[in-house]
Amino acid sequence: MLTDHFGRTATDLRVSLTDRCNLRCSYCMPAEGLQWLPRPELLTDDELVRVIGLAVGRLGITEVRFTGGEPLLRRGLTEIVARVAALRPRPEISLTTNGIGLERLAAPLRAAGLDRINVSLDTLTPEVFERLARRDRLADVLAGLAAVAKAGLNPIKINTVLMRDVNDHEPVALLRFCLERGYQLRFIEQMPLDAQHGWRRAEMVTADEILAALSVEFTLTPDDPADRGSAPAEAFLVNGGPASVGIIGSVTRPFCGACDRIRLTADGQLRNCLFAREENDLRTPLRAGASDDELAARWMRCIQAKLPGHGINDPGFLQPTRPMSAIGG
Ligand code: 5AD
Ligand code: SF4
Repeated sequence: MLTDHFGRTATDLRVSLTDRCNLRCSYCMPAEGLQWLPRPELLTDDELVRVIGLAVGRLGITEVRFTGGEPLLRRGLTEIVARVAALRPRPEISLTTNGIGLERLAAPLRAAGLDRINVSLDTLTPEVFERLARRDRLADVLAGLAAVAKAGLNPIKINTVLMRDVNDHEPVALLRFCLERGYQLRFIEQMPLDAQHGWRRAEMVTADEILAALSVEFTLTPDDPADRGSAPAEAFLVNGGPASVGIIGSVTRPFCGACDRIRLTADGQLRNCLFAREENDLRTPLRAGASDDELAARWMRCIQAKLPGHGINDPGFLQPTRPMSAIGG
């Protein structure tokens, strides 16, 4: 088992399949100039399946979440999902995507064994979308969402990051949109993970502010915290329930003490935290013919170095060298 020095056990593996993206969300990427990882450095499908197989077969991983960049841009994604679904014990398989391309891929992904999906949606206004994501693609995202619902993937979770003076007027409209369609909405506080290091604490829309804005239109009551487990979102029943809304206060309400995650970057580096300053290289030993025992030992070393928290609120905090798009959300 991947248990760290603070008694936390990692069971949830986040796998970044590519660092590329077809959007340029300003909380993530600069408008231009970001260098992609060279292709030969990306793990191949076979390498990925071997590493994930080891993680579920020997290391106690029970959930695999594919992320990016934008994971739908990875060629052969459905085959990767199918191969991971064939592993034993079979892990739960989920995907975090910006939704572009889901119109075509939702049904095949479901058929391949995808269990759950999170779609990022920060605005319902095309102009705001274009300003925030620097591409005019809201219609594609909405078409993708409709396709997910039609494919019967349930529940559909929506992730929203609010940015001050960009989309911070929209939380009520977004919640209405999700309630009407049965989507589970979660607001995520903006974290210092953007490639251009533009995050400013004062500009972050806090969990308290989001709750206050929603409370103008809805009655929110905290859901039973016993149900939260390792989930980062605090759930609030909307107008008495059963519908709920989640708030992920990554910065102002950190949940590191309950963290059950470990991450694999697209270029085969293992990370014990989004904010880790160090990575454990799996790709080099993998390509040098390492045994499962040797690879497993690297996983153990990685988890044993896991710090108690992300340290964003510490005076000496340093942003990770790699941006979120290269780490995987
Ligand atoms: N802070 C918070 N959330 C972020 N995401 C991307 N960058 C950030 C950030 N700096 C979100 C995306 C997506 C998920 C992978 O993480 O919107 O929903
Ligand atoms: Fe792409 Fe996601 Fe980053 Fe937006 S947040 S630019 S959709 S990787």
